[in-house]
Amino acid sequence: MSVIALRQKPQTEEKKLARRAGRVLELERQIDRLFRRLRLAVVFGGDKQVEGAVIEPTGNPRSWKSYETVARDIAASMVRAGCKQVSLMPDDMRLGDNLRAQDAHLAWLNTGGVQGHCSVAHAPAMMELFGIPYIGHDPMMAGILDSKHVFKRQLRSAGLPTASFAIVLPEGAGYLPEQDPVFMNAFGEQEGPFIVKPVSGRASLNVLYVQSRADLAAAVDEVYARTRNYVLVEQYLSGAEYCVAIGGPVIARGGRLERLDHPFVFSPLERVLDKDEKIFTSMDLKPISGERARLLNSESDAKVRAELEALAIEVWRQLGIETLVRLDIRADAQGKLHILEANPKPDLKAPEGVVTSLVAMGLAEFGMTYDDLILSIFADRVDTLLSQRRGSADRLVRLV
Ligand SMILES: Nc1ncnc2c1ncn2[C@@H]1O[C@H](COP(=O)(O)OP(=O)(O)O)[C@@H](O)[C@H]1O
Ligand SMILES: [Mg+2]
Repeated sequence: MSVIALRQKPQTEEKKLARRAGRVLELERQIDRLFRRLRLAVVFGGDKQVEGAVIEPTGNPRSWKSYETVARDIAASMVRAGCKQVSLMPDDMRLGDNLRAQDAHLAWLNTGGVQGHCSVAHAPAMMELFGIPYIGHDPMMAGILDSKHVFKRQLRSAGLPTASFAIVLPEGAGYLPEQDPVFMNAFGEQEGPFIVKPVSGRASLNVLYVQSRADLAAAVDEVYARTRNYVLVEQYLSGAEYCVAIGGPVIARGGRLERLDHPFVFSPLERVLDKDEKIFTSMDLKPISGERARLLNSESDAKVRAELEALAIEVWRQLGIETLVRLDIRADAQGKLHILEANPKPDLKAPEGVVTSLVAMGLAEFGMTYDDLILSIFADRVDTLLSQRRGSADRLVRLV
């Protein structure tokens, strides 16, 4: 911004900018001080088969993954940023003892949980119980975002677009859509195609394309047999598929902090589907590369970019989201956008060669690197903890 433009701003606007700049400088100083003394624990998904991890191994309604490699990427980035003491530990029954043994001040939750229902909410719930501040969504938000049926009801009540759906919990005999008032209300006589998927899933696992109504029962039973949880039946959206990431307003660029006056929306992209690919293939099978995702151009894709950005900001504000999510969005045959899901723990793998993550892909446009992204997530959360959560973040307050 030129000096002239700054001078022309009304007095109050100038004051606001000055205040914001002042707070960012203060935050930078606080983080500098934190880095010298902070003991940060990066938590990844614990394995229920490991001795002492749980009392009794049970089921995994959400397909399990350790996320340990990504936790290492996050830890390495934090060390590069200047954080002196960073450790890694699994999310399991011993987490409290491990945090106490390390005398950790702050946890970075990069875990989808160990087992059981609503497993993404377990680690934040434990942090609340232990009194350890953490980077990640609070337990209720994590649970809502990872429960597609609950999330979609939130979208509905906020008037945000999402595909028509029915939630099914098959009991006993095969599923009969005609006898399910919820299904009939959502779909009436519609013959398909449908998508049948777990309410808590990841990476397209157990997501089934169902051409016609006659095949719904078998698909519902199949997903239920694999997840033992509610099953979501959705209208199949045949248009283009998109992703967009959104995080808090404090960001890092070239290692320096800035505060935007809105949440940070970035990496808008189109997922590239093969001609006959109805469902985006799991990243477990095909890693994310430039061939699988196309960043949206700020000029030629300006219209859809603006729509994605507006949707992301609406979801963020209406639901009261506080830290990074990645929205998965798909267009219907008419090109209208519908929100598929908001991933509460999007992949934060450090880019390596051609393999990257959907979130990190578009950082260059904002003059940011992977390390800037990690520092942004950290700084934004620390800012919230220090400015709004006094009481629950005393361990941090004492360090700054
Ligand atoms: N209603 C739908 N219409 C079309 N495709 C869908 C629909 N729901 C899911 N898909 C496809 O399945 C993939 C995975 O679904 P998603 O809801 O994002 O769950 P997750 O990523 O947690 O497995 C999407 O990326 C998309 O390709
Ligand atoms: Mg998805």
